Amino acid sequence: MKIFIDSADVKEIKEVESWGILDGVTTNPSLVAKTGREIKECVTEITKIVDGPISVEVISTDAAGMVKEAEEWAKVNPKNITIKIPMSIEGLKAVKVLAGKNIKTNVTLVFSPNQALLAAKAGATFISPFVGRLDDISHFGMEIVGDIVQIYDNYGLTTEIIVASVRNPLHVVEAARMGAHVSTIPFNVLKQMVAHPLTDIGIKKFFDDYQKIPKK
Ligand code: G3P
Repeated sequence: MKIFIDSADVKEIKEVESWGILDGVTTNPSLVAKTGREIKECVTEITKIVDGPISVEVISTDAAGMVKEAEEWAKVNPKNITIKIPMSIEGLKAVKVLAGKNIKTNVTLVFSPNQALLAAKAGATFISPFVGRLDDISHFGMEIVGDIVQIYDNYGLTTEIIVASVRNPLHVVEAARMGAHVSTIPFNVLKQMVAHPLTDIGIKKFFDDYQKIPKK
């Protein structure tokens, strides 16, 4: 499974890139707003840190506007910039046009298997089911991921599933067990994935026992 970081914070992105596990980045307007930075400058810097898909979201609500924004963004890095398109009829139209122009898309705000089916048929490169936000309203978010994996497998659809709105390490375990292609993970959850109390206890014990070894 590919691992993306769900962040627009270049300090976090640089740190995780140095771990050797990072395959891409997803941003959204809320994440960029948190950085306090100008969006184009921020995204351009991210493209210099990570050589993999970097999602940036359009804000237009009509297909023509989405395509125009996408074409502008694609100039920043034609290979890696991936356009986040919100799930909607206008979004589907934009995905179809962008697929014809070889511009990568990530259909976002996906909350149902039918939305995922339609996005794949329109030609989306990626789709992003938001599992945490479903959990928030008492639906099992990961259930739709299982459904989408099965539907895409049934019909050989090549759109990649990005498990998004990840809130804890168990979301990532479930995503990998289900065969999702990608999890996009916030920095705090990536750090939680590394940690295990028995690892910390083990490191301390080996360090302490090393002190007991007679030195020449
Ligand atoms: O990748 C989507 C993500 O940024 C949304 O996460 O925690 O705002 O639901 P959250």
